[in-house]
Amino acid sequence: MNKLNHIAFIMDGNGRWGKKKNKGRNFGHIKGVETVKKIVKSCISLKIPILTFFVFSSENWKRPKTEIVFLFKLIKNYFSKEIDKVINQGIKINILGDITKLSPDLKKILNKSVKLTKKNKMIIVNLAINYGSKDEILSASNKVKGKINIKSFEKNLYTKNMPNPDILIRTGGHQRLSNFMLWQLAYTELFFIKKLWPDFNSVDLKRIIKKFFKTKRNFGAL
Ligand code: IPE
Ligand code: IPE
Ligand code: MG
Repeated sequence: MNKLNHIAFIMDGNGRWGKKKNKGRNFGHIKGVETVKKIVKSCISLKIPILTFFVFSSENWKRPKTEIVFLFKLIKNYFSKEIDKVINQGIKINILGDITKLSPDLKKILNKSVKLTKKNKMIIVNLAINYGSKDEILSASNKVKGKINIKSFEKNLYTKNMPNPDILIRTGGHQRLSNFMLWQLAYTELFFIKKLWPDFNSVDLKRIIKKFFKTKRNFGAL
């Protein structure tokens, strides 16, 4: 049977979900956070060791300032209000992406959350914030000292020391990667779901995992 170490999520469709409910895009982002919490809980009970969530892409700066400000406020509020729960659940928070561009208070709370959850062992939750895969690849190549090979290169990715995702799930109906983990997804099983992220639930997740276990992964061999 396939090993399942790592699931990555492109949680797309929040804005459309909020608009569909006539409550605006940001309402969808609020609901999106609830989905993240539920999915993390399910994955803890399913004993999945690593999750990665695409929270904010390096291209999402092109959105209206009001939405960007709202999104960052949502992340900040979550960690300031719920960090104790995160610690108690045994979640280890890890950030992928260039957070130097974020506001000082958000940076501070993210760094603090990483530090406070450092020793947690139940599950690793990677949050990709201001993450762009092309940037990650370029900066990793520039950071390698001496000869560049797969090993020395991968040591300079945000995902260093981590297995690559076994499953990628993108909700929201689009079949594209939007500059997400281009290197790490080389052999990942890809699942594109029509449902918008706020509607995604653990039944959907379990269905995908079941399919994954039935899939024969070849990695080029027979
Ligand atoms: C994904 O949902 C979440 C973020 C990019 C932060 P979107 O905001 O892209 O929602 P849609 O795709 O516009 O519906
Ligand atoms: C991808 O969604 C980014 C995140 C989920 C954070 P987008 O909504 O930004 O992707 P595109 O622009 O439709 O490709
Ligand atoms: Mg989108």
